[in-house]
Amino acid sequence: MQGLDPVELLILLNTLTENNKLKKDDDYWVINEERILTLDMNEPDLNPYFKKYMGHFDFLKSPHPLDFEWRNTNKSLNYLTELISQLNRPEDSVLLMGMPTLFANLSLKDIPQKVMLVERNGPIIDTLSKIANDRTKIIKADIFTAKSTDIGKHNCVIMDPPWYTLHLFQFVWLAAKCLKVGGTMVISIPPMNTRPNIDRERVEWFDFCQKQGLCLESLQPSKLQYAMPFFEFNALRSAGVKNILPFWRTGDVVTFKKMRETDTQRELFIEETSEWHEQIIDNVRIRVNLSTTDAPEFEVDNLVPLDILPSVSSRDPIRKQANIFTSGNRIFKVSRPHEFFKYLKTYSRPTRESENEEIIHNFIKEIVNFEKQEFNDYLNCIYYEMERQSL
Ligand SMILES: C[S@@+](CC[C@H](N)C(=O)[O-])C[C@H]1O[C@@H](n2cnc3c(N)ncnc32)[C@H](O)[C@@H]1O
Repeated sequence: MQGLDPVELLILLNTLTENNKLKKDDDYWVINEERILTLDMNEPDLNPYFKKYMGHFDFLKSPHPLDFEWRNTNKSLNYLTELISQLNRPEDSVLLMGMPTLFANLSLKDIPQKVMLVERNGPIIDTLSKIANDRTKIIKADIFTAKSTDIGKHNCVIMDPPWYTLHLFQFVWLAAKCLKVGGTMVISIPPMNTRPNIDRERVEWFDFCQKQGLCLESLQPSKLQYAMPFFEFNALRSAGVKNILPFWRTGDVVTFKKMRETDTQRELFIEETSEWHEQIIDNVRIRVNLSTTDAPEFEVDNLVPLDILPSVSSRDPIRKQANIFTSGNRIFKVSRPHEFFKYLKTYSRPTRESENEEIIHNFIKEIVNFEKQEFNDYLNCIYYEMERQSL
């Protein structure tokens, strides 16, 4: 009861027992009313809970698995905001790479530092642009190709790259070029038990950082907390995991000091995501890979049981076969991706020009209906956990 005086607590429990809200059972008090135990999702206003725990949840679009987007909880955002004010003088500038929710937080908070975000995710940038101000700026660019001269030099870089070597190298390379000598780079990396061989990967990453003139200064294990995205909720359920705790994922915070300029060259890394095109229907984000040509007949290949990929790892080989990928981690392979995308765009205003349009619209309708229902289950799961944590 978080420090409540035990005598006050006893009085409260006895009063609730007299009012039949509780009953005394041996040495325990038991809740009498079903209603108190089972939370009715229609009744409470969820927004205050989501605002308290989830970083700008109501404001940003649901993350898509192809972006590896794990958002920090408010607890982590507050920690990082505090860290920024400790590391920087008021006149300093801070560069964020792949940290949209921190950007939202810093745009809304009254801090003196100038903040710049480099991000490529269109729907997220559109939303963030509404709250950016003359102190906070967004550069829409791909970190793998962006020019450091367009971004300028900063006193501090905070980044959260996808947790894979090739991504991390690209983020770190650009960060090192955009950091002033003496500046600090803060990075979130996967904790020790994230996956097999992560120990070796981390040593390789630190070695790469050192080659960019960055010296390891501190490492704080599991300092950051992430809110499980909807796609991961679906993936875990599909893999048979029950009773998921939505804030189970954490990140280690590592800081580096930039000791010197280097002339290291950027490695070429072309990500396959550039071939994916997105359409959003009723908040369900559907992406289609248009890198292959259409076959004569329209067919759908179901790649996994129940169509939900039971993993969120980029190394899952089945991912390569999919050319449809939804924000609920559903994957399919369609034989006519261009036609599929064409009719995905006419979903809300059908042209009725072909039989395939109707087939594709019915298929999309089914996906959207499933994912809307599953998203409600996801909200319930998060809400119960937030309720539990706030007790
Ligand atoms: C792992 S998420 C981190 C999100 C962060 N924890 C937050 O709460 O804001 C990675 C972010 O990097 C962005 N990103 C990934 N690759 C990128 C690239 N090549 N260029 C720009 N942004 C990229 C994604 O869009 C996503 O927002």
